[in-house]
Formats: sequence, C-alpha cells, structure tokens
Amino acid sequence: MYTVPKLEDYSPEALDRAVAELFAALDAESRELHSESDWKTFRDRWLARKNGVLTQINDTWLKAAPSTAKREVGQRVNELKGKVRSRIDAVLVETQFRSLAPPDQRTVLGEMKAHLIEVQRLDISLPGIQRPIGVKHPVLRVMDEIVAVFKAMGYSVGEGPEVESDYYNFESLNFPPNHPARDTQDTLFIAGQESKPARDRLLLRTHTSPVQIRTMEQQPPPVRIVIPGKVHRNDPLDATHSPVFHQVEGLAVDTNITFCDLKGTLDHAMKALFGSSVKTRFYPSFFPFTEPSADMQVSCIFCGGKGCRKCKFSGWIELLGCGMVDPNVFDFVKQNGYDSSKISGFAFGMGVERIAILKYEVEEIQLFYEGDVRFLEQFA
Ligand code: PHE
Repeated sequence: MYTVPKLEDYSPEALDRAVAELFAALDAESRELHSESDWKTFRDRWLARKNGVLTQINDTWLKAAPSTAKREVGQRVNELKGKVRSRIDAVLVETQFRSLAPPDQRTVLGEMKAHLIEVQRLDISLPGIQRPIGVKHPVLRVMDEIVAVFKAMGYSVGEGPEVESDYYNFESLNFPPNHPARDTQDTLFIAGQESKPARDRLLLRTHTSPVQIRTMEQQPPPVRIVIPGKVHRNDPLDATHSPVFHQVEGLAVDTNITFCDLKGTLDHAMKALFGSSVKTRFYPSFFPFTEPSADMQVSCIFCGGKGCRKCKFSGWIELLGCGMVDPNVFDFVKQNGYDSSKISGFAFGMGVERIAILKYEVEEIQLFYEGDVRFLEQFA
C-alpha cells in the first residue's frame, strides 16, 4: 500500500515523479474496490483530515519544504488535492457498477463507466441541445399561399374527407358508369366492398372535386370556396408524378357567373402567385363535371414565353383544369337551390406540387416527400 515518501529533492522533476507515483498508486488501489463500503474505506484513507494521504502530503512535502521551494510545492499540492478528490468521486461510480455487473459483462461495464463518468461531469451551465423551431413544409406553404390569394378575393375555405365514396368522387360529378378513371388501374379502392352498391364503395379521392358537391349540399348559393387537400391516384412515381399529392379546388356559384369571371379570377390568382408579368391562356379540354372545360396555361416562368427546355419550346406551361359547372352536376343538388336555369358557376382544380415545382425550380417531386433536411432547410 502506498505511503507518502519523504522528498529529498524539491526540483520540478523530482516533484513530477512523486506526483506520478501517487496517481499510479491511487489507480491501482481503486481497481481493487468491489463494494461501496470498500470505496468508503479507500476514500477515508486518502481524504481523512487526520492522517489521510492528502494530509500526510501536506505535512511531509509542504511543511518540510525549504522556504525557496515552498511556493512551487504549495501550488503543486493544491492542484493535486483537487485532482485526487475528483478522481475519488469518479471511482465511486466505477465501484458501484463493478459491484452490480457480473464479471462476464465487465467490458460493457467499462463503456458504461466511461459514459457515466462523462455524464457526472456534465456542466449544467452549458446551453442545452438546441431544438430549432421548424418552418412550414414547402408544399403546405404554397398551398397556404394559394388559399390566401383566394381568401383575399372573398372566398371561404373548406375541407372534405380523403376516403370518399364513389358517389361523391365520380357519380355526382357526372362521370359515366364505365369511365376509365373509375378503374382500379387509376383509382385506389378500399378492399372488401363488393357487397355494397357501387355508389357507396369507398376509395381514396382522386381529386378535391367531390368537395364541390359536399359544399353545395351544405349551403345554398351563392358559393365562393377554395378546398385544399390531399388526393391519391394509382400512378407510378416519376420525376413529376406522385401517387399522393395535393390540390386546391375552387368553386364559385351565383347568378350570372360567366367564363369571363373564371378567366379574370384565375388570371389574377396567377399574377399574385408568379408575378404580374405572367400571362394566362385557356385551352379547350374535357372534364365530365364542367362544360365548357379548359386547361389553363401560364406563360413560361423560366423563359418569359420565348420558349425553352422547361416549356418544351412552346412558351406555355399547363397548370390547371377548369370550366363552367356542368348543369348535370347542379341537378344533384337541385333541391338545395341549385337550379341551373337560374344560377351558373365555375370550378377549377390545381396541383400544389406542380406550382411549388415551378415556383422553386425543384427538379424532382420526390424531394418534397423524402424529408431530407438539406432540401427542406432551403425553405427556412
Ligand atoms: N378535378 C380535376 C383534376 O383533378 C381538375 C378540375 C377541377 C377540373 C375543377 C375542372 C374543374 O384533374
């Protein structure tokens, strides 16, 4: 067992050697401890005021030192006392674990010990782990922006269910019974519903248009509403298509609503979203629930309409579907005041990711869903 040697020589080298010996002894003794009471005995041996090792060092090293070396030895001894004390504190944790873990787990124990010693030394005055507040996902951000543009024009905001019936998703929107969109090739149906009548079968809505009917069932005209939401299609994923994506639907019904209102409203919305220099044009198209129907195109926001790779050198980019509400659709909600001889309306539906891709020049739609912070951080 370690005893405090008398120092013959007070040179820095001799002091170094004496201190090193002392710590080697401390470590050797600490490895022999197997219980907390072992540790207490060990602690008292080193720290006891009366005759503990540190007290002996005070007496044999410091007090006996020649006056020329007193200053140096005093500093060394003070430093050493602090180190010995914290080493002895750490040894308690090691000992506790040694007494708990069976011998075959001692290597695991070694790692835990190191960790615990670190934890014990935790400086609680350090700032904690920072958890930065997130920002809105770019898709949501664009969706909110679109909604805000229409809100400013007096539109209200509505929502509808993502699991929808065939009636709302197709039948009431004037899709004929054998329309290809109703095929499982294009639409994701909920399994096991063969016993139900076709119109009650549930599916994942393929567009936000069913909320047109749901809204008109709930309120008589006039209506001005936008409906943001998630939609699903049985489509393979590629650079610009995802089986799950987002749309914002719009519906305006009143007396004397014309195609001019539709054009003016959407032209204003596109200028609000893409800047006042953007132009719009309407191209004939077909949807079962609008007549006439159109695809709205915007002048290419990359080349300003001159023609580039992004717009396939046409100068135009197709952005949304729209049209005048088909009288057959109004017939489904006739009892609620939608008499197509008295009122008219327009509807439109736009893909949110498509607009986000254009606004932020995103190369692949998957980037929106992968949750890679390197991508998302750019929108912070
Ligand atoms: N629902 C159509 C689609 O998803 C878009 C649309 C909405 C077209 C409203 C006309 C009117 O493609």
